[in-house]
Amino acid sequence: MPSAGPNVPRHVAIIMDGNGRWAKQRGLPRIEGHRRGVETVRSIIDAARELGIQYLTLYAFSAENWQRPPDEVSALMSLLELFLRREAKTLIKNRIRLHTIGRIEELPAGPLKELKRAIAATQEFTDWNLVLALNYGSRTELADAARAYADAVVAGREKPEECSWSALSRYLYTADLPDPDLLIRTSGETRLSNFLLMQCAYAEMIFSPVLWPDFTKAELVTAIEEYQRRERRFGLTGEQVKPPVRVHRPAVNQ
Ligand code: FPP
Repeated sequence: MPSAGPNVPRHVAIIMDGNGRWAKQRGLPRIEGHRRGVETVRSIIDAARELGIQYLTLYAFSAENWQRPPDEVSALMSLLELFLRREAKTLIKNRIRLHTIGRIEELPAGPLKELKRAIAATQEFTDWNLVLALNYGSRTELADAARAYADAVVAGREKPEECSWSALSRYLYTADLPDPDLLIRTSGETRLSNFLLMQCAYAEMIFSPVLWPDFTKAELVTAIEEYQRRERRFGLTGEQVKPPVRVHRPAVNQ
């Protein structure tokens, strides 16, 4: 398996930003930027697997994105449906398990059906994981988790005095996923925009100026190299943690 060497982040989460600006720069409608963004999604899924990244989470549609113009929302939903219909076979071929985070039940019937189908068809895979954040927002996630925890208390399955982060995190959408090691946002914006706020407590953050439709495997490798130069301390001192392992630049075939 080609890999970026030791110390490859196990979980990379990406805020895919800049589709609209990419289109505007070319005098194209915003939806063209999203269409090109889907091509980038395909190539980055392949790249992540080639580099040995076990979990790739993509912020595909936020809980706030419903407020965009209706034609853009419906175009994004159509692109999602088409992507799932076309990519399901590739996910199966490459043994990639599809997960979602977010209130997916509120998605339109078409993409929801394709999502459920692809999730079921890939559920046996364990090595590679693609997580699509859809109708996702961290604050909604926390509210949903608090409600589920409160229901469990009422049902006698949990005790309020035993509420800790590890107990509460079992009620998050991400209960079965490791925390992201590396968070990347494209397009030069330096915000988290309600994305995995709790789970990224110790994630390294890299903000790339490249617009999402132009983001390539080479940019992903550059971000990983930057990640590998950083010292993750998790609240400890530099002396308490081992120095990071330095690696050679992996081959990039594009
Ligand atoms: C941000 O760019 C991007 C989004 C809100 C949607 C991301 C969606 C895709 C890449 C395509 C659909 C995804 C899948 C998985 C099929 P923006 O529109 O906010 O860009 P701007 O800030 O330049 O306007």
